[in-house]
Amino acid sequence: MINVIDNIDSTNSWLAQFNLDFFDSIISLKQSEGRGRQGRSWESHEGGFYYSVVLPNNDLLPIIVGISVAEVLYENGIIAKVKWPNDILVEGKKLGGVLCQMKGEKVIVGLGINMDNKSSLEKSISLSALGFSIDKLDFISKFNEKINSAMEDSNEDIIEQFLIYDCLIGEHVSWKEGNGQVVKLAEDGRLVVRDSLGELIFLTDEVHLQ
Ligand code: BTN
Repeated sequence: MINVIDNIDSTNSWLAQFNLDFFDSIISLKQSEGRGRQGRSWESHEGGFYYSVVLPNNDLLPIIVGISVAEVLYENGIIAKVKWPNDILVEGKKLGGVLCQMKGEKVIVGLGINMDNKSSLEKSISLSALGFSIDKLDFISKFNEKINSAMEDSNEDIIEQFLIYDCLIGEHVSWKEGNGQVVKLAEDGRLVVRDSLGELIFLTDEVHLQ
C-alpha cells in the first residue's frame, strides 16, 4: 500500500514505527526532518520526491536500488550515473540519494530525488533544471517493478548491471582511513580499492572522488 501525505518529519522514520509488509510505502510532498546517510540531513522542500518503501533484506539491496532508479530515469530520457553504493548523479552533480535502514529481516529504503525543488547545495541538480519532469506515482510503480525483477537476478548479473551506470571504477577515491584506486565491485557489493601500498581494501562505507 502507498501512503500519500502532505508533510512528515521523515518518510523513513514514519515507516520505521510500524510492522509493515514488503512494498508498503509512503510518499510525502515535503519533509521537516529529512535524513541522509551518515547522520546528515536531507533538504526536503516541496517539489522534491521523498519516498520510503519496506523491502526484503539482501546483501546487494543498496546496489539494486541504485540500478533501479537509474533504469527508470533512463526510460524517461535521463542519463544518470550511480556513485557506489547508490548516489544518483547527473552531469557529476547529485540528483538523488538513498538511505537504507535495517529493521529485522526488512529494510526501509528511503529515496530522495530533486525534481521541482531547488537545493541549496552547490553540487546538486534537479530534474526541472535538466528540463525533465516525471510523474511521481508512475516513477514509484516502475521503480517497484525494477526492484522486483532485480531480486530474481543472480549477484553476478546484478553487478554486471551496476557496471553500466557505475562512475567509480578506475577512479581515485578517498575514505575515512585512506585513499586509492577503485578496482571493481565484489560479489557481495563491497567496493574493492587498491591503496597506495598495493593492498586490496574491501569497503562498505561511502567514498569521495578525488
Ligand atoms: C543520502 O544521499 O544521504 C540519502 C538521502 C535519502 C533521502 C531520502 S528522502 C526520503 C527518505 N526519508 C528520509 O528522511 N530520507 C530518505
